[in-house]
Amino acid sequence: MPNVGRVDSNEDVDLTEDVDLTDLDRFTSGFPFEVFDVLRRDAPLWWHPPTEHTPGGEGFWVLSRHADIVAAAADSETFSSESGGDREGGGTTLEDMPTGFAVGALLNMMDDPRHAQFRRLLTPSTTPRALQAIEADLRRRAIDIVDAAVAKGQCDFLIDVAAELPLQAVAELAGVPQEDRHELMNWANVTLDYEEREIGEISDRVAQAQAQMFTYGTALLERKRREPPTDELLSIVTHALIDGEPLSENEQRMFLSLIIAAGSETTRNSIAIGMSALSQKPQVWEQIRQDRTLLPTAVEEILRWASSTPYNRRTATRDVEMHGRRIRAGDKVSLWWASANRDETVFADPYSFDVSRNPNPHLAFGRGTHFCLGASLARMEMRVIFDVLLDRVRRVTVTGPIEYVRSNKHSGVRHMPVSIEGR
Ligand code: HEM
Repeated sequence: MPNVGRVDSNEDVDLTEDVDLTDLDRFTSGFPFEVFDVLRRDAPLWWHPPTEHTPGGEGFWVLSRHADIVAAAADSETFSSESGGDREGGGTTLEDMPTGFAVGALLNMMDDPRHAQFRRLLTPSTTPRALQAIEADLRRRAIDIVDAAVAKGQCDFLIDVAAELPLQAVAELAGVPQEDRHELMNWANVTLDYEEREIGEISDRVAQAQAQMFTYGTALLERKRREPPTDELLSIVTHALIDGEPLSENEQRMFLSLIIAAGSETTRNSIAIGMSALSQKPQVWEQIRQDRTLLPTAVEEILRWASSTPYNRRTATRDVEMHGRRIRAGDKVSLWWASANRDETVFADPYSFDVSRNPNPHLAFGRGTHFCLGASLARMEMRVIFDVLLDRVRRVTVTGPIEYVRSNKHSGVRHMPVSIEGR
């Protein structure tokens, strides 16, 4: 816990000695929730000063309370996901992403109205109703995945169980050939991990993975363009028109990268972190097994607990007053969903993992116009995999330390050694 006393929330709180949210080594044993307990209490609008790790040597605002984050996410005109103000780039990570290539081309780093037009093309394929069509198939896949893990007895839960279903599901939904899915995931993993680099740096491995993804994506999208349209997401983006014009090739390629990364990474981490929490509560495991009506609330609690997307950045487009302080046009503002999900004014006993918590207004999927497009899919995958695990597994025991990805942008689990005992 950082060593700071209680201070007035309008004061410029100096937490620099204890807190550097861009020092990725601080995230290698999981998300530092305790730092945010102090920020929520003492400095709900905190100016994170520049440190040796902050991208571009710039400071940024940190929002940590649920209510403030909801308000900022709801006001996408003031808090842009695209613009970087006067900077050359912008977007939703603390480091500026290049304008034209990523910013303004990636769905999540695009402002309305184009964002809304783009998103509208995709929503019909991602509603709970549309997803019903793939649920039975996902269940069969989940059974194969779980049975293979049970047969092994000892396995890496992240690789052998948690990663597989989200990856297979997103490949299905997007229209990526299943046999290519591991290669795509590996490229996405390399680009999301900061194992051998700092924020804003691109290592040779990352550049190589991006180039491979580019070549693969160009060829796959070319094929989709030639084939008759279907309701697969990649078919939609290759055939759709906005204002009478097709999406640019870059927008289409960027969408493939986004959907693979967003679709596979986040859900697997929530599944792994949820399993780790449940493995410590065998009586709760048994309770859900006997009463599956608890599964939907358990999934929501896992989403809250794991908060696998810790933050997204915005850039202020105008001056705004908040907590008696002034955010200036052009300032970077970070919205910490993970902190909102431990806000004691919203969640009673926020550090208790309560599978019957209801209501559970967590922000794991964000809020507002950029609310996660894959939320219904992620919820369904989690429901299906845990349902199958409950049917076929007596106990999962975590047998070694959980290894986390070195990142403040993804609460990623790299490895989770377990023993699995079947029924
Ligand atoms: C537990 C799993 C997941 C979590 C925690 C999660 C989290 C998030 C969050 C926090 C955002 C908002 C970003 C922002 O406001 O800047 C988001 C957006 C998005 N997510 Fe997810 N996500 C998950 C699963 C998925 C899946 C399975 C898919 C793909 C099918 C997906 C695709 C997307 C897309 C395309 C966006 C951008 C939406 C937009 O800008 O309109 N996500 N996600």
